Amino acid sequence: MLISGRGTNLQAIIDAIAERRLNATIGVVISNRPDAAGLERVRRAGVRSVVIGHKGFATRDDFDRAVVAELRASGVGLVCLAGFMRLLSPVFIEAFPNAILNIHPALLPAFPGLDAQRQAWDHGVKVSGATVHFVTGELDNGPIVMQAAVHVEDDDTPESLAARSLEVEHQIYPAAIAYVLEGEWKILGRRVVKVTRH
Ligand code: GRF
Repeated sequence: MLISGRGTNLQAIIDAIAERRLNATIGVVISNRPDAAGLERVRRAGVRSVVIGHKGFATRDDFDRAVVAELRASGVGLVCLAGFMRLLSPVFIEAFPNAILNIHPALLPAFPGLDAQRQAWDHGVKVSGATVHFVTGELDNGPIVMQAAVHVEDDDTPESLAARSLEVEHQIYPAAIAYVLEGEWKILGRRVVKVTRH
């Protein structure tokens, strides 16, 4: 798992594993920021963590190569971004084809990029939510694995909407990881669909 900040999605995944809702092991948590609050959650859970500060690298490719090397050394099969605030270069994306997930706090393709909940609130949408998707070279644009909706109320603020979106993020990210790890899916065009066995 890759984080940059508070790590509440990481916590939801740690909890889902502990409660056996998710049959997985976190091989390593990598943070690009030494002060990420999520690192404390990792320590409490007894999961291995590594800080790879992006500032120590001359180029994005160099940073990504270091992260990929650490992920490979940790033997991970699926990379999950959880508030990781760095764009991934082709060096990274090509190292893990169809094996990088991200969670975004809006119903993509609406409101990609930063501050999505505020973008949705500013736009006046009545329904927003969260999206788990595969990561491709285009920002917040890969095939969608799972989404969940949140109704926007008249008295919502960007902050209250963000708080409710976060609750659904915490539900769908572990569920989407379980779905992907089960492997009973394929990508048809942009659509992630269940493989039906006869
Ligand atoms: C979440 O809102 C996630 O959707 C976005 O970044 C935020 C990370 O929050 N990509 P946290 O670090 O998991 O608490």
